[in-house]
Amino acid sequence: MTLTSATTAPTRTERPIKQVHLAAHFPGVNNTTVWRDSNQASQIAFSSFRHFAQNAERGKFDFLFLAEGLRLREHKGLIHDLDVVGRPNTLAVLAGIAAVTEHIGLVGTLSTTFNEPYELARQLASLDQISLGRAGWNIVTTSDAFHGENFRRGAYLDRGDRYTRAEEFVEVARRLWDAWAPDAITADKATGEFLAADALGHVDHHGPQFDVTGFATLPRSPQGSPVIVQAGDSADGRDFASRTAEVIFSLHSGFEDGQAFYSDVKGRLAAVGRHRDSLKILPAATFILGDTEADARERSRETALLQVSPQTAIAFLEQVWGTDLGGYDPDGPLPDIDPVTSDEGVTRGRVRHGADPAVIAKGWRELAEAEGLSIRDLVIRFAAKHTFVGTPVQVAETINRYVQEDASDGFVIVGSTNPTGLDEFVDHVIPELQERGVYRTDYEPGATLRQTLGLPV
Ligand SMILES: Cc1cc2nc3c(=O)[nH]c(=O)nc-3n(C[C@H](O)[C@H](O)[C@H](O)COP(=O)(O)O)c2cc1C
Repeated sequence: MTLTSATTAPTRTERPIKQVHLAAHFPGVNNTTVWRDSNQASQIAFSSFRHFAQNAERGKFDFLFLAEGLRLREHKGLIHDLDVVGRPNTLAVLAGIAAVTEHIGLVGTLSTTFNEPYELARQLASLDQISLGRAGWNIVTTSDAFHGENFRRGAYLDRGDRYTRAEEFVEVARRLWDAWAPDAITADKATGEFLAADALGHVDHHGPQFDVTGFATLPRSPQGSPVIVQAGDSADGRDFASRTAEVIFSLHSGFEDGQAFYSDVKGRLAAVGRHRDSLKILPAATFILGDTEADARERSRETALLQVSPQTAIAFLEQVWGTDLGGYDPDGPLPDIDPVTSDEGVTRGRVRHGADPAVIAKGWRELAEAEGLSIRDLVIRFAAKHTFVGTPVQVAETINRYVQEDASDGFVIVGSTNPTGLDEFVDHVIPELQERGVYRTDYEPGATLRQTLGLPV
């Protein structure tokens, strides 16, 4: 459904009213999940994924989203116990979900640094096939050598090389996905011809990173190839996204910050000959609902205290400082020592988003001093700040405002309990968005993920 200014009340800018796009994030590699909450079920059993996916589909979400950590996080030499660990492989989970859902897109995070294009293209094409065109690939380049120790000799690639590899990786994957003609399989029992003549293009790629020669192994899916999602924030990451991605998963969920990111990234599209609507920007967003605003604020504070226990506060700080801060009082001021900046800090396996720990520490210290925040208060501010807090009407109106005023095209919604945390969003916020005419009331029958997202086909 597309509403235009011709058929409905015009917006201030006389532009078509934008539709809100939503993805549902199954948490698991961060501290948003309050796994000790009594409403929690297993974070890794397939029954949890099934509940989550079917609920997101009930809410007509565009897609379900899985992040991925390729190595268990370690903290002070032990497995980091703040996180949910033990999640099955992304593509295996998504294949299972494909079988118990019909419409929702299935997006997995998979690293270009620690995979090979022929194999990954084949796996994603398989997911796209079996889900009838609902697959998406969140391209990450994965930021540190610790992750790499299980995968490659030397383990590390620096940022520039990671994006060089990613660019060529996607080029090879696309050539493999495009190698089969749309109706290559004729399966003519009378003539005995299974494949139409010349229906398979031979891929012969020789580049600085990869040599790939041969035929791709799978036919095209109903959407041709998986939707490309990207998560990366640097200038290199944004350029890469503007050339390659159809969706960006971003961290910019503040309103002004979101508008700045939105205009920066959309502004890069013209230079590469792409239309502004060919790339959707979806920041991650958490939410807390209440019957009244005060009720929601109280729930938000309670949830934040569960998400950031005194021990969590210190451990979170140690991830940034890279050193043991066990002697500090969580209710006291921030350490005045400088962070250790090497990859060998006390936490290993944390996905870095490019920020320099020294810069983060300086900013945090200034903020804590200015506002009189303890360590725990400050960590709550950064690690458990809930993006949308309010009644369902307030949350729906805020989401819509972000979208209409170009702070985003929608959100990747992250619940704080799992797998049922999203249920109340579906029950209470989705109907409000639908009532405002900015969110689908049903999927288009047979729509692929690309069509559901309103992307050019
Ligand atoms: C919102 C967001 C989510 C990310 N999620 C993952 C992830 O699940 N797994 C992973 O290995 N890397 C993840 N990354 C890391 C990026 O792929 C990239 O390696 C990192 O951000 C450094 O690149 P950059 O400097 O361009 O941001 C994520 C990055 C962002 C911004």
